[in-house]
Amino acid sequence: MHLIGAARPNFMKIGPLFHAIKQNPLLKGVIVHTGQHYDRNMSRGFFEDLGLQQPHINLNIGSGTHAEQTGRTLMSYGELLLKENPRLVVVVGDVNATLACALAAAKLGVPVAHLEAGLRSYDRTMPEEINRLLTDTLADRLWTPSEDADQNLIKEGIDPARIKLVGNIMIDSLEMMRPKIEADRTAKSLGLKPREYAVVTLHRPATVDSGQKLSQMIRILRELSERLELVFPVHPRTKKNLEEFGLWRELGRTTGLKLLEPLSYIPFMNILFNSRLAITDSGGLQEETTYLGIPCLTMRPNTERPITVTRGTNRLCKAEELTGLVHEILENPLKKPDPPKFWDGKTAQRVTADIERMLLK
Ligand code: UD1
Repeated sequence: MHLIGAARPNFMKIGPLFHAIKQNPLLKGVIVHTGQHYDRNMSRGFFEDLGLQQPHINLNIGSGTHAEQTGRTLMSYGELLLKENPRLVVVVGDVNATLACALAAAKLGVPVAHLEAGLRSYDRTMPEEINRLLTDTLADRLWTPSEDADQNLIKEGIDPARIKLVGNIMIDSLEMMRPKIEADRTAKSLGLKPREYAVVTLHRPATVDSGQKLSQMIRILRELSERLELVFPVHPRTKKNLEEFGLWRELGRTTGLKLLEPLSYIPFMNILFNSRLAITDSGGLQEETTYLGIPCLTMRPNTERPITVTRGTNRLCKAEELTGLVHEILENPLKKPDPPKFWDGKTAQRVTADIERMLLK
C-alpha cells in the first residue's frame, strides 16, 4: 500500500499511520514523497522527528504553478502505479498531490482512501478546497476527523457506507512525540518564557501574496510585538514575498519579534506547547491549539475546521481585529475545552483496523 506525502502538513499525518501499519506483518506501507516540499526544514526534518525512515520513493516534483504541480504529479505517479500496482493508495490532507495521486489511482482502478476527508471551508477560492472536493469524490474510503465532516460528505451525496469517522490523526503525532516535545529546549534556547509569547505562522496565498495585505499584517504584528513577544517561523513562500515587497528587513529589526527559519515538528511543537496564543492562517494549527487549550486567532474569513471554533479555542479574525482580540485573550484565563470525539491519539489504530478489514478479509 502507498502512503502519499507531499508537503509539510502531510508528514505528521502519514507518520503515525506508517508506524501503526508496521505492527501487522501482513500489511506493507510504502512511503511515496512527491517532493512538493523539498527544503530540509520543510521535509527531511519532519521524517527524522517522526521516527520515519526517508521516503521509499521520491518523485521530486518540486515547485510550480498549481497546474504544473498537479499535472507533473499525476503523470509521474501514474507511471509509478503502473510499475508497482499497490493494493491501496492512501492520500492525506488537501495539497495538490492529494488530488493528483487520488486521480492517478482512480483512473487505473486502484482503490483510494482519503485520510482527513470531508473538511469543507465552502470557499472555492482556496486551492485546498478544490483538492478536498475532488479527492473526496474519487476516494473509495473516506476517513473523517470529526462528525461535521461526515455531514458534509453526506450532503454531497456520498454513500455513507464509504465514510468512516476515525478521528484526528495529528493528535496521534502529538501524543506519540509528546515526551520529545516536552524535553525539547527550543523555546528555552530562544529565551522564550512559558505563556509569555505568541507563535505566528502565515503562508496562505490569500494572506501573503498581496503586498497591500501583507504590509498591513506586518504593521499590526509590529505594533502587537510591543505588548506581547512574537515568534514567527517564516514559510518559504512568505519569506519570498516579504523580500519582494521590501518588508523583510524592517520586520527583522523589530524588537519583540523573533523571525525564524521554518522549524521541524518537534521544535515547532515545543514553542507551541509553551505559547500563550497562536496567530495563524494554517489549517492544522487550529486543531493542535484546540487540543492543547491554547487560544488561536485564525487570519481567515472561513475555516474548513469549524469544530475548532464551536468546540475549541479558535476564532476567525480580520487583520484589523487582531490587536483587540489579543488583548481580550491576555486578560482572560486559559480554558482547556474537551477534545472532539476520537481526538485521542488512537486514530492510526482505527485506520489500520479498517485497512485490515478492507485488504485482509
Ligand atoms: C502547500 C499547500 C498548503 C499547505 C502548505 C503547508 C497546496 C495547494 N498547498 O502550500 O495546503 O498548507 O503547503 O506548508 O498544495 N518552497 C520552498 N521550499 C520548500 C517548499 C516550498 O522554498 O520546501 C517554496 C516554493 O518554491 C514556492 C513556495 O514555497 O515558491 C510555496 O510552495 P508550494 O508547495 O507551492 O505551496 P505552499 O504555499 O507551501
